[in-house]
Amino acid sequence: MAEAHRPSTLRRRVFDILDEGSTDPLGRLIDRGLIGLILLNVAATIAESVPSVASRYGPVLTGIEIASVAAFTIEYLVRLWCAPEHSLAELRSAWHARLVFAVTPSALIDLASIAPVFAALVTQIDLRSLLVLRLLRFFKLARYSPGLESLLQAIFAERRALLACIVILFGTVLVAASAMRLVEEDAQPDKFGTIPDAMYWAFVTLTTVGYGDVVPITPLGKVVASLTAVVGIFMLALPVGLLASAFADEIRRRDFVVTMTMVAKVPLFADLGAGPIAGIMRHLSSRTFEAGEAVVQRGQPAHSMFFVSAGTVEVELKERPVRLGAGEFFGEMGLLQGRERSATVVAVTRVRTLVLEANDLKYLMEHNPVMAERIREVADRRSAESQSQG
Ligand code: CMP
Repeated sequence: MAEAHRPSTLRRRVFDILDEGSTDPLGRLIDRGLIGLILLNVAATIAESVPSVASRYGPVLTGIEIASVAAFTIEYLVRLWCAPEHSLAELRSAWHARLVFAVTPSALIDLASIAPVFAALVTQIDLRSLLVLRLLRFFKLARYSPGLESLLQAIFAERRALLACIVILFGTVLVAASAMRLVEEDAQPDKFGTIPDAMYWAFVTLTTVGYGDVVPITPLGKVVASLTAVVGIFMLALPVGLLASAFADEIRRRDFVVTMTMVAKVPLFADLGAGPIAGIMRHLSSRTFEAGEAVVQRGQPAHSMFFVSAGTVEVELKERPVRLGAGEFFGEMGLLQGRERSATVVAVTRVRTLVLEANDLKYLMEHNPVMAERIREVADRRSAESQSQG
């Protein structure tokens, strides 16, 4: 039987800690430590390229490099080890799951940031030539930046349109370069004598860079240059517009998926089909609270209720506080009874919640009688408990 199916609590725990977006305090500490180490390492690599700094702080920079490589290697091996815990890996054998993980972009970047060091140790290559490869480590940060991931996805989604932009750019370069060569060849044979020379000028002009090292001097040449510069502005606007709208779509889609996953985790909604869940999502917004933060305060007016999708909150009741975790909800009593908050609710860990406003709760309860009944039951039970405590 595949190893992936065997329960492995330590491996599961390590996976949860290292999982991106984990609310586990240790996981967040490790994330921050790794981000700090990546930045420190990149800064040290940049500093090492300055001879005066390298000679003065050589041992410190080497120390940072050794510590980072050790930490990145352990990180890579641990991520590889617990890859079978990934929910998508359930049906695969452990080694197959690890292989699938190893070829993901973030795992390849992890490998690329350590492999050259080990290759250098084995083959005795001059470590200085690896300086550029070491800067690749900067891209390890992509794992912690959902925005960067969305941007890469936007580029991937628009790859055909972007490729078309490049083809159009090349075509325009060819036309501009041959026109320019025709009109400037005699006046400046050294600068516009060949098509590659003229193409260099066309690229620099069309991309609106305009170094100014090669400029037309004939009146006709200036006309061609002006037209090329104007066309250049339109050429740049095309991919920028494409990417901007694809990026915005991607972020909207990501928010949709995140909210959908969070909604599906709430048992109250879990029985509903995909259609009603999508309907409910329109009424929910997500909010995160840090450990120790009060989500609602006793005595304050109630405007919304909360569904916990990750983390733990504590309801501060008089005798015995009650803890609520993922899938549970609170803040419904104030809304249903039209009263102030009956208790203060504090985030024990970092908590992710879905917020439902009073009007939306009313709407949802009117349209989902079963759900309405369940919320009322819980509210009545809590009311009774609170009264018996008070
Ligand atoms: P509300 O009164 O709006 O704000 C405080 C919330 O704490 C309340 O809604 C309930 O959701 C929750 N709460 C109150 N009493 C209990 C209880 N006995 N057990 C669990 N949760 C409670």
